[in-house]
Amino acid sequence: MSILDNRPALKAEIDKVAEVAGYLWTKGWAERNGGNITINITEWVDNAMRAMPAISEPKAIGTTLPHLEGRWFYCKGTQKRMRDLAREPMGSGSIIRILPDCAHYEIVADAPVAPTSELPSHLSVHNYLLAKGSPYRASLHTHPIELVALTHSRKWMEKDAATRMLWSMIPETKAFCPRGLGMVPYMLPSSVELADATIRAIDEDYDVVMWEKHGVFAVDTDIMSAFDQVDVLNKAAQIYISARNMGFEPEGMSDAQMTELSTVFGLPK
Ligand code: 13P
Ligand code: ZN
Repeated sequence: MSILDNRPALKAEIDKVAEVAGYLWTKGWAERNGGNITINITEWVDNAMRAMPAISEPKAIGTTLPHLEGRWFYCKGTQKRMRDLAREPMGSGSIIRILPDCAHYEIVADAPVAPTSELPSHLSVHNYLLAKGSPYRASLHTHPIELVALTHSRKWMEKDAATRMLWSMIPETKAFCPRGLGMVPYMLPSSVELADATIRAIDEDYDVVMWEKHGVFAVDTDIMSAFDQVDVLNKAAQIYISARNMGFEPEGMSDAQMTELSTVFGLPK
């Protein structure tokens, strides 16, 4: 028995998470337990789910998040592998609900799989998105090789330096990732400080944020769209690195070409 039985709409969302987890593994972005996914599933919660007893003790989030009262999330489990989640999402993740104090959660289904260690960042971002009235319901943290490599250079950690370079590698990059790439300096993984810095970057109007020397954190309406933004940006980084490997600095699209593209596609200049 699974909470997803006879709940096709909820199952479809979780199936998307499993599909994305498979992509993360095949791309080489999900070594061991690397990366995590959470989605806000509150809109698919029914009365029978609300009546279900918890299968864990209340656990502290580590921070208080007032907009999460009564919200429900699917979370990848800590130390769980994306490649296992791809086959069996409820074996490598669980469904949690936030308690009325907004500082604790409990696991509801299917098994007591403890949520990701990056829960403070994920839930803080969901809290921020709900406060803003955003339609975004998914957040993704992953370790894309080429984007992480860029963050080992001061040059690319400068605000919007990587964004400008990546946009200029291939025209679709700006069209499909119009807010660019935010930069968060190195902070301890899973810390509340990292969560707060991630929110500050998202609040500057980025959907995709780099955690220096660690990975990316991306938000979007659903998990497939969050994945797409990271995929598009990492592809641009691969093109830059391929050119450098061939022994030259890539030209990049010119300022005039970027301006024309922004005008025609209706993108911010
Ligand atoms: P979890 O296994 O706890 O999700 O951690 C993976 C990770 O990438 C931490 O940054
Ligand atoms: Zn990580």
